[in-house]
Amino acid sequence: MPCTVFAFDAYGTLFDVHAAAARHRDEIGPQAQPLSDLWRTKQLEYTWIRTMTGTYRDFAAVTADALDFASARFGGISPATRANLLATYEKLDAFADVKACLAALMAKGLRTAILSNGTPAMLKAAVEAAGISGLLDATLSVDPLGFYKTRPEVYALVTSHFGVKPEAVSFQSSNRWDVAAGAKFGFRAVWINRTGQPDEYPDMAPAHVLPSLAPLAELDG
Ligand code: LAC
Repeated sequence: MPCTVFAFDAYGTLFDVHAAAARHRDEIGPQAQPLSDLWRTKQLEYTWIRTMTGTYRDFAAVTADALDFASARFGGISPATRANLLATYEKLDAFADVKACLAALMAKGLRTAILSNGTPAMLKAAVEAAGISGLLDATLSVDPLGFYKTRPEVYALVTSHFGVKPEAVSFQSSNRWDVAAGAKFGFRAVWINRTGQPDEYPDMAPAHVLPSLAPLAELDG
């Protein structure tokens, strides 16, 4: 079945989560990269634990909680740097391949969407900062559900919004765990393996693995 809807994870797939620490590298100091890595790791861990324990805090809150853990682990950051990092998270750099990819899909008459853990406000700000609002048919957030990926109800936001079956959706994520859940849900899951990570979750395999978004519009279906 040809895919008519292309849904994208946001953070790590369209937006570079390490852009915030990179922009404030001088303020943070030599620990900027490990702090950024731990910030992201803890942010994701908090989404899973808060989903499993039924203690939802929105993505802006878990992002701040994770930054506080990471900064404590690496010796602390000033309140001004903390505020700068969280403000920058609202306008992360989009990867260089994003605009052309979305434009190519739209030119083929395909529908495009974001499916993300981010709050509607965070996603709106990021989409506007990246200048891609005209290239998206929908921005779908988990927030009204009150839990995070990888609950199947999250992936069902795409099928219910567009009124299609899972197999009509091509789902792109650079997060291999998100790809696994998308594949399990029945999407054509495409792993955007930007950093050459080894594969995992072999029983929930991607339909395609691409090094970037650039070749996506050329895939069959
Ligand atoms: C998102 C996280 C997983 O955008 O990056 O949903």
